[in-house]
Amino acid sequence: MVVLMGCSSKRDQPKGTQNFAPGQPWLDSDSLHINAHGGGILYSNNTYYWFGEHKSEHTSSAQVGVNCYSSTDLYNWKHEGVALPVSDSVGSEIEAGCVMERPKVIYNAKTQKFVLYFHLELIGKGYDAARVGIAVSDNAIGPYTYLYSLRPNAGMWPQNMTEEQKNSNVTLDDFSDWWTDDWMQAVDNGLFIRRDFEGGQMSRDMTLFVDDDGKAYHIYSSEENLTLHIAELSDDYLNYTGKYIRVAPGGHNEAPAVFKKDGTYFMITSGCTGWDPNAARMFTAESIWGPWEQHSNPCVGEDADLTFHSQSTYILPVTGKDDAFIFMADRWNPKKPIDATYIWLPIEFEDELPVLKWKNQWDLSEFAETK
Ligand code: DGJ
Repeated sequence: MVVLMGCSSKRDQPKGTQNFAPGQPWLDSDSLHINAHGGGILYSNNTYYWFGEHKSEHTSSAQVGVNCYSSTDLYNWKHEGVALPVSDSVGSEIEAGCVMERPKVIYNAKTQKFVLYFHLELIGKGYDAARVGIAVSDNAIGPYTYLYSLRPNAGMWPQNMTEEQKNSNVTLDDFSDWWTDDWMQAVDNGLFIRRDFEGGQMSRDMTLFVDDDGKAYHIYSSEENLTLHIAELSDDYLNYTGKYIRVAPGGHNEAPAVFKKDGTYFMITSGCTGWDPNAARMFTAESIWGPWEQHSNPCVGEDADLTFHSQSTYILPVTGKDDAFIFMADRWNPKKPIDATYIWLPIEFEDELPVLKWKNQWDLSEFAETK
């Protein structure tokens, strides 16, 4: 597979593109490579809105903010501007130079507000803050008003933690070394949940999922990236109900992307290797509250063990087509973050499980017409 780089400047791409070319520069209506990394898509008013991290030439930290693009056909995108800009006020949580990653927007029908969640790291603190930032707007494209950041579910226990695990006296101080078998067992038993119980649970890579009943969930890498959490949001989507579960304790999952088909919930994730790609993981559940069962890597063929040199970010249900889902991933370029490209692939189903196969080029006719 040829990995193409170098796309931050204006280029010629025929207008009216009618296909996806994974890993190639993808030009917007201004002929600039789309700058919406770690993104997700909102469908509203017959339009797709793609929100993602604006990345610059030399750093992955946020210099601009959360970018927004719109499209009616999924191939051709117009830059709508910066939905949530970084702040120029020194001391603001979203001051330029902070980390704003994996933004996702959902619409709340009750409040008629668009709600934006993203992974926030505070300036100068590396990835230690592990917070979620929340912003809101009356319009899909923004501007979004930044509300606050937090660590989810302070003072709340996960639904699937036993009384014994909650009451355990084992703490990090009991271990001189991390990553031993005993330490991993303690992680499994909720070592970090107890450590972070009062201040709230760590929240890094993330996505949002809205179920058929309108309930929304924040799915995030927690517990030092060792364990995923699925947390129910309040009716206005601006906070948490306190109901949450742990998924795959100690499994080291990042980059969660969730969809639902025929009553089954599917989640595709990655392992934790920084900006380097690794093999995707896949989970299914009959209830959002689990149990979540792990399956093998959904990718097949050459470079399947590296998710085709990419990392999941979102799974997009295609409007107007039955069982049509697009796997969206990032092919990161840490040396020149702005040039990172996008890997969009159609999800096929074999024995009712998702399968991802590399395609140099494809279009929506891959999906069967609606019956
Ligand atoms: C992997 C995550 O998935 C990305 O969003 C980003 O946080 C990088 N790690 C940073 O190394």
